[in-house]
Amino acid sequence: MKNKLENIRAESLKAIREAADLAGLDALRVQYLGKKGSLSAVLKQLGSLSAEERPKIGQLANEVRAGIEEAVKERAEALQNALMERKLREEALDVTIPGKAVAVGARHPLQIVWDECVDIFIGMGFQVAEGPEIELSEYDFDRLNIPEGHTVREWTDTFYITEDEKVHLRCQTSPVQVRVMEKQKPPVRIISPGRVYRKDEIDATHSPMFHQMEGLVVDKGITMGDLKGTLNVMLKRLYGPDTVTRFRPHHFPFTEPSCEVDVQCFECHGEGCRVCKGEGWIEVLGAGMVHPRVLAGCGIDPEEYSGFAFGVGLERLAMRRFSISDLRLMFENDVRFLRQFS
Ligand code: PHE
Repeated sequence: MKNKLENIRAESLKAIREAADLAGLDALRVQYLGKKGSLSAVLKQLGSLSAEERPKIGQLANEVRAGIEEAVKERAEALQNALMERKLREEALDVTIPGKAVAVGARHPLQIVWDECVDIFIGMGFQVAEGPEIELSEYDFDRLNIPEGHTVREWTDTFYITEDEKVHLRCQTSPVQVRVMEKQKPPVRIISPGRVYRKDEIDATHSPMFHQMEGLVVDKGITMGDLKGTLNVMLKRLYGPDTVTRFRPHHFPFTEPSCEVDVQCFECHGEGCRVCKGEGWIEVLGAGMVHPRVLAGCGIDPEEYSGFAFGVGLERLAMRRFSISDLRLMFENDVRFLRQFS
């Protein structure tokens, strides 16, 4: 029995030292030390020994067990270390390898002028208001004093959503005026940039969807002078301090008096050229003093308060600002075009 134990010791220690991996090592541990292992098999025969021999063999068996346990522990540590080292080697980070460039987008030219306009007006104490793009005709037309029979109400001009022509895609940002005034009493000072829709054929200067920014100021004693001052500040900030503006009489149903605002052609300085189509001026926005009927319709007394409003096309501003000759470029998402604004 002593020999058997010695054999087990020699054989197991060798095998353990040579174990190639942790799984193999565990199998060896079970093979030698497990309940059905070779050591247990020997120990089961202890009973057949003489009382004299039993403790000696028992002691030897314990030594063998301890030796095997120790060997398993050592080998396990060695294997684990080797594994860790290999991992460290394989997963080593080469910080000198050039990184992958992150693709950074560019702001859209429309967004650039949008942000600029918002900044300019926030600087003058305005707040940004929002209104729905699917609008009630009541807000886009009736309460803006746009009567039945006005061309803009024709189904050929406007995208109606319901057959009764009571809901449509808003064709201007002006309904936001009404939405703001019915909730907020003066002083009111807001701008409202957003999308608008008209049944226009797409060409170099038209699109069925485009962007406007509405402006509205209502308070005691607001005059056309405030309108001119405010719009001059905006246009000079956008186009430079030398910008020359012209306020021309016009008609809008919801302002009285109304005007259109032109800037002098930056190309020919008023002489007339190809850019301004010989006019010397380029129209940039519509504006006017809020019609008393619109104020009254929102519960604001026109005897006590007055206001001005304006609406400016953002595509037109962007096109002028960046010398973009075709409106379609703004909506085609051609990266060769968009990249120029990064
Ligand atoms: N809503 C008008 C348009 O789309 C512009 C405008 C706004 C005119 C506010 C006067 C006052 O043409």
